[in-house]
Amino acid sequence: MPDALKTELLTLVSEAPDLAALEEVRVAALGKKGRITGLMKELGGLSPEERRERGAALNALKDEIAAAIDARKTELHAAHLAARLEAERVDVTLPVRPEPRGRIHPISQTVDELVAIFAEMGFAVAEGPDVEDDFHNFTALNFPPGHPARDMHDTFYLPDTADGRRMLLRTHTSPVQVRTMMSVKPPIRIIAPGRTYRSDYDMTHTPMFHQVEGLVIDEATHMGHLKGCLIDFCRAFFDVDDLPLRFRPSFFPFTEPSAEVDIGCSRKGGELKLGNYGDWLEILGCGMVHPNVLEACGIDSTRYQGFAFGMGIERIAMLKYGIPDLRTFFEADLRWLKHYGFVPLDIPSPAHGLTR
Ligand code: DAH
Repeated sequence: MPDALKTELLTLVSEAPDLAALEEVRVAALGKKGRITGLMKELGGLSPEERRERGAALNALKDEIAAAIDARKTELHAAHLAARLEAERVDVTLPVRPEPRGRIHPISQTVDELVAIFAEMGFAVAEGPDVEDDFHNFTALNFPPGHPARDMHDTFYLPDTADGRRMLLRTHTSPVQVRTMMSVKPPIRIIAPGRTYRSDYDMTHTPMFHQVEGLVIDEATHMGHLKGCLIDFCRAFFDVDDLPLRFRPSFFPFTEPSAEVDIGCSRKGGELKLGNYGDWLEILGCGMVHPNVLEACGIDSTRYQGFAFGMGIERIAMLKYGIPDLRTFFEADLRWLKHYGFVPLDIPSPAHGLTR
């Protein structure tokens, strides 16, 4: 009987088409309820002599089948690998692909750089709509209706909504502060890069431009944190280790105290150089978030405080990459883009370097 069984099992093993089928054969023969296992269990009912003889035969059968299964397994593995190598064959004699001709716009590259630097400091990226209402763009930021600071924004107004809300194109990224504070609980640490709009057009103004906003809210945040954060950012972004920063008192309705920040530069010989040369260049606004703003956003100003900052992305891109005219950013001139743009795989990261 074992002979017939042996032939049958060996045939099944050698004909198993793949690893799953082979495993089924193994279970049917050697598994807990397998046929050889079943025969082993019957040994108990035999006389001692018969048991010895049959036991030895069954053990030999078991070993032989197990060895055949192993051999078939090796064979199937090899066949599988050979099929995969064949399917994934690469023709190394083909010509290389032509180099990509497109370029990343300096604004996109600069945003990627900002995000990389602030991400290292633990900031997340937040967004808000370009079409805002008066509440988020002004009122919640402590510009009461009729406040003169509103007039400085050259706002593009849109028709009111059906329920009478005054709509506009956001004049700064600061409304994202309001939206963030109204929707997430402190601690908050975000930057908000995006488009902004003002009705203005000359060498240094375009009706659409970009800003990046920063906001940190926590229980023990002070002006020292604000300064440290911006010093680290500017030195990393402009890649000047000892770049000096100067914090000058200023006014914004949504911060108290407020400051404007200058970085060190030289203008000798009509050429602008960033560094510790004694001249100053203004690059951003910042301050400690006004308690009125916290309260307007439902945050307890006796427990929480924080800082905010905002800067123009075109401006810092022009300074870093020596781009002389703001308007050229939006002319969609391919020759300009070829000159000032970035190769697509130049992905900025503080570890790999932020510039070319
Ligand atoms: N929103 C201001 C502007 O357009 C920039 C700004 C200044 C943002 C100070 C801030 C800040 O968050 O704290 O012109």
